[in-house]
Amino acid sequence: RKISYFDVIDSTNSEIKRQAEKEFIPGMLAIAEKQTLGRGRKERHWESPAKTGIWMSFAVKPDLPPYKASMITLVTALAVAKAIKDVTGLNTEIKWPNDIVIGSRKVVGILTEMSAEMTTINYVVIGIGINVNMESFPAELEDKATSLYIAGGTKVRRSSIVAKFGKYFEKYYEIFCKDGNLSGIKDEYEKLLVNRNKEVYIIEGDSRIKRVAIGIDTDGELLVKDDNGNIEKIMAGEVSIRG
Ligand code: BTN
Repeated sequence: RKISYFDVIDSTNSEIKRQAEKEFIPGMLAIAEKQTLGRGRKERHWESPAKTGIWMSFAVKPDLPPYKASMITLVTALAVAKAIKDVTGLNTEIKWPNDIVIGSRKVVGILTEMSAEMTTINYVVIGIGINVNMESFPAELEDKATSLYIAGGTKVRRSSIVAKFGKYFEKYYEIFCKDGNLSGIKDEYEKLLVNRNKEVYIIEGDSRIKRVAIGIDTDGELLVKDDNGNIEKIMAGEVSIRG
C-alpha cells in the first residue's frame, strides 16, 4: 500500500489524481494535516484547517462499468458513519447521497471523481473530509457545520477513525464489487438515512418539488413518493435535496 502524508497540500483529491495519472496503485492514499485548496462538490471550497480534521483521498479501480461509480460514494458514506459510531459512540445520519450530519449539521463531506473510458473505469478518487476536533467554526459555517468534538464533547484521535474506516470500507466495498450494486448494504444504509420517511424538496435549477423520501434502491437512487403514492427515482448528482 502506498500512503503519502503531507503537512500542507493543495488538495488530497488533486494529489491522488496526479499520482494515479502517472501510475495507479491499488489502495494508494494521501492524507494531509492541512489543505490550501480543499475542494467540495459543485466547485465549492472545502475549509480544511491544520490538525483538526481528517483530509484524505484514495483511489480504487473497480471492474465495473463507469455508471456504477457513483454508488461508491454511498458505500463510503456508510463506512465513515460506522467508523465514527465505533470510535466515538456518536450516532450520525446520512443525508443522501453522501453527506454525514449530526443534528442536521454537516460533519463529513465526500467528493468522488472518476477517470473512465467508454466502458471501463481507469480509477475513482474518493476524498473524505471529516470535521474532528474543531472547537468552533467561522460565523458563516456555524449553523451548517459541526465537528465530532462539538457534538460529543471529547477530543477524538484521528488515526483511530482512519483505521476503522479502512476496515469498514474494505468490507463494504468488497460486497459492492461482488454484487455490482448496493443490495448487500442497502438495509444498513437506509437505517442511517436522515431523509427516510421525511419530506424532501427536490431542487433542480429554479424548481422545487415536495416529495417524501422512502429509501434507496439497489443502484443508490433515492426513492421518493408523491401525494398520490406514486414512486419515483432520483439519481445522485442530477438534483439536490433539502429537508
Ligand atoms: C462536499 O461535501 O462538498 C465534499 C467535501 C470533500 C472534502 C474532502 S477533504 C479531502 C479531499 N480533498 C479535497 O480537496 N476534497 C476532499
